[in-house]
Amino acid sequence: MIGGISKSDLLLLKINSKEKVYSKIDFHSLKKKWLDHTNLSKPIQYICESSYWRNFKFELSTDVLIPRVETEQIVEIATKIVAPEEKEIIFADLGTGSGSIAISLAVENRNWKGLATDIDMNAIHIAQQNHKKISSESNINFYCGNWWQPLTNYAGMINLAISNPPYIPKNVYERLPSSVIDFEPKKALYGGEDGLSHIKQIISDAPKFLVKGGWLILENHFDQSKKIKNLLREYGFDSLKTINDTFGIGRFTIGRYK
Ligand SMILES: C[S@@+](CC[C@H](N)C(=O)[O-])C[C@H]1O[C@@H](n2cnc3c(N)ncnc32)[C@H](O)[C@@H]1O
Repeated sequence: MIGGISKSDLLLLKINSKEKVYSKIDFHSLKKKWLDHTNLSKPIQYICESSYWRNFKFELSTDVLIPRVETEQIVEIATKIVAPEEKEIIFADLGTGSGSIAISLAVENRNWKGLATDIDMNAIHIAQQNHKKISSESNINFYCGNWWQPLTNYAGMINLAISNPPYIPKNVYERLPSSVIDFEPKKALYGGEDGLSHIKQIISDAPKFLVKGGWLILENHFDQSKKIKNLLREYGFDSLKTINDTFGIGRFTIGRYK
């Protein structure tokens, strides 16, 4: 892939090792990419400028987080939580990055309408491009701005909000490996001193935007769920629950606005 060789060409090599395949980039560029990976720990997804997530291939740049495997589950949680009779809902993906969550939800639930926000205009462009490549539907609107702020026209109308916000506490952020800290955007990861600064903003503004009975689903750091439940309770949520990821970590916290 890095040399522009397709998967089918590589398969051909497996079937007939005497076949020849040709790299579409010159040897020196290829070597440079390899050295960036081995010497500088540049993640392979940024070298390929893409990543596979759930059923889709997402284009990436270092303006967006590499979508993580544990986040895939958020799509299932969101889909299951909506009652089957609620066919045409409005959902928001706050901090959409590459658009992975919003696009997966909109493709898997074609009559849902999506609103995706991000503070970074480059991320919004990447998410829009990914949406165009992956789906022929136009059921997501993209907005650049601070969390809910671009969604004022939808106040009190959103049935479901999902966010994988920056939640890494300061002391953990400072010790992240160079593959993360040197390449992934700080604004996608860093959650302030205790990691909760963005989560607090999202929860405190949620009551203005959610319908009564609307759900909020948050991804969080392994030890934040209890504090997040307390915040949710304080802002009028019930049906609070921590959901473990596939590694057994309390990765998601959900609540329903009363
Ligand atoms: C952890 S990344 C999640 C990206 C993507 N949703 C995913 O799961 O892979 C957090 C995202 O939140 C965005 N973000 C950070 N601060 C924000 C803010 N104040 N308002 C909106 N988005 C913000 C970042 O730019 C980043 O794209």
